[in-house]
Amino acid sequence: MTGLHHMLVHFPVGFWALATLMILVGAVSQGRLAEIARTALLPVLILSLIGALAAIVTGFLVWPWQANLYSPLARNHILMSLWSLGLWTLITVLVWRAGEATFQHIRRWGLVFLALLGGALFAITGTLGGHLAGAPTAFSRLLGALGWNVYTTFYMPTWMLAVMVLVGLGCAWLGLSAYRRPRLPARIKNRVTIS
Ligand code: HEM
Repeated sequence: MTGLHHMLVHFPVGFWALATLMILVGAVSQGRLAEIARTALLPVLILSLIGALAAIVTGFLVWPWQANLYSPLARNHILMSLWSLGLWTLITVLVWRAGEATFQHIRRWGLVFLALLGGALFAITGTLGGHLAGAPTAFSRLLGALGWNVYTTFYMPTWMLAVMVLVGLGCAWLGLSAYRRPRLPARIKNRVTIS
């Protein structure tokens, strides 16, 4: 399965890199190219998810469980691959449900932020995979300079987890209240009916 994993990982990495580029082009530029980037984004995102699932399934078949759980590098690689999958699934659902609206007004910057975060996550996943396969890159030196030695288990302080849960609940509340708020045309319609 090692060879298969090495081959299949190119699909999520390639498609996620392309999707990041398409989101940047679609968000910051106008014209035909930006229009094509926005229209073709969803198929690219769906292909990347299929590729990621194939990479993850074959990844688990490379080494025995005991080896994966024993090695901090492998644990970090699994964690980052699952985080990448989670974040890119969220981006895919957003683009699927909201379509062109994800690129309108201030929402585009939210999408750009998520895409850059997703880009960093899959880059870290790939670089950790390179370490596991005996081909480290300079990118992990950058992570080291930022305070994370990739040979040690990634650690997130408990207070940070609490902040993330609070941010998540806040976002859910904002989303629900915006969803329940009547749309502008309905309010105008009501005013017209009253008068
Ligand atoms: C989005 C998901 C994933 C991506 C993008 C990814 C990426 C990579 C990359 C780029 C490599 C280096 C391949 C090479 O140098 O040719 C690699 C190796 C490896 N990956 Fe993953 N991976 C993913 C998920 C997983 C998962 C879930 C596991 C589960 C344990 C895993 C286990 C491994 C192992 C053990 C190696 C080293 C193989 C060897 O001995 O050469 N990967 N991965």
